[in-house]
Amino acid sequence: MKPIIAPSLLASDFANLQSEVEMLNESQADWLHIDIMDGRFVPNISFGFPVLQAIQRHAKKPLDVHLMIVEPELYIEQFREAGAEIISVHLEACNHLHRTIQQIKATGAKAGIAINPHTSVQLLDDVIADVDLVCIMSVNPGFGGQKFIENTYRKIEALKNLIIARNSNALIEIDGGVNQQNAPLLLEKGADALVAGSFVFNSADPLQTIANLKNQA
Ligand code: DX5
Ligand code: ZN
Repeated sequence: MKPIIAPSLLASDFANLQSEVEMLNESQADWLHIDIMDGRFVPNISFGFPVLQAIQRHAKKPLDVHLMIVEPELYIEQFREAGAEIISVHLEACNHLHRTIQQIKATGAKAGIAINPHTSVQLLDDVIADVDLVCIMSVNPGFGGQKFIENTYRKIEALKNLIIARNSNALIEIDGGVNQQNAPLLLEKGADALVAGSFVFNSADPLQTIANLKNQA
């Protein structure tokens, strides 16, 4: 099975967002990964609804929206209306995670949970059967271009075991520091979807870089 490739627009040229999105439309990317940061859950601010709506107007692929915000439950419906196909909230940002997952599903979007590098996958035990995706952060969220954390491989294995044990359909997405070097082992360990920001957009030929990630053995 080929991996799902989700380039992160965080690393794109915001002054040429339309052409960046059109490039992704023509590429072998499966999803467009959208990083929303509020300056509270993470020490950085990215962009909000007007930018997301502008992306949606041009995107021909599902928008995979990664919410790095506190109290995400206040904005789920608005993100859905702005075009989110997948909505991932951080476990660490939710006091009532089970309720928030149901809230996402009620909008018709797919529900994802993102976990920080310090968060054990075992904390997902009681919700894993209810979610469509788990995003394992392989860097501390907040910035693109950071170094991949090696402990991620172990977390993928543990999560895969949990998914099987609980009969879950959740996809495993890896986010942060993904490149052509670590991608093969991530897939071997059980990753289904790879997010890549700087590796794609800082490369000389993003179309080719996406194709390489998609078609590796
Ligand atoms: C980090 C974001 C990532 C980021 C990945 O907080 O969640 O999606 O854009 O960027 P790279 O691939 O450059 O690590
Ligand atoms: Zn992300």
